[in-house]
Amino acid sequence: MPSLAQQLIHWHKHHGRHHLPWQKNPDPYAIWLSEIMLQQTQVNTVIPYYQRFMQEFPTIRSLAHAPLDSVLALWSGLGYYSRARNLHEAARILVRDYQGQFPDTRETIQQLPGIGRSTAAAIAVFAFRKREAILDGNVKRIFSRYFRVLGYPGDSLIQKQLWKKAEELLPDNNCSGEIETYTQALMDLGATVCTRHSPKCSLCPLEQDCSARADNTIDQL
Ligand code: ADE
Repeated sequence: MPSLAQQLIHWHKHHGRHHLPWQKNPDPYAIWLSEIMLQQTQVNTVIPYYQRFMQEFPTIRSLAHAPLDSVLALWSGLGYYSRARNLHEAARILVRDYQGQFPDTRETIQQLPGIGRSTAAAIAVFAFRKREAILDGNVKRIFSRYFRVLGYPGDSLIQKQLWKKAEELLPDNNCSGEIETYTQALMDLGATVCTRHSPKCSLCPLEQDCSARADNTIDQL
């Protein structure tokens, strides 16, 4: 039986998303921007905002030197405006303290405003090919169902349990970009198959071993 990671990597080849605009750009700045926009907003909504933003502010420096008002104007309609304020503030910090270079470890990335552990890990994985685990809302839902983790996912004990799972499930090493593919696969599975409402279990590569599927508790988890 292949590991959960191997099953997801295989699934991603045929069913994952391969043509998102930020996947074409290896610049850590572009990846950071996309991850911040994607924190509370779906891919289809994000794409035009991402493209306009990259056109207007193509580099960390251009963002840092822009007036906050023009950043907020480009964000207008995306919501959760603290994301734009933090992005601008972080760009200024990067120029002031990091010579305009994006830091390459999860721990350092996480110290920037607006970046929690999971977003920092996603940036470290996609921009720097690091071995880091993510645990965003989608991934919490996948693991809660697969392992039938009962309880409120915001509870700190449950969070701890889920982070432990997330770390254990990571592929051992990053040969041929496995960590990136696995990470993207988790995001894509959560967005397209293991959805909050009406999940498409019959299309899920993990269906056979999913505990919630086995005991019919998908809707509760
Ligand atoms: N949600 C959060 N990050 C994402 C990414 N890189 N691709 C697709 N959906 C995401």
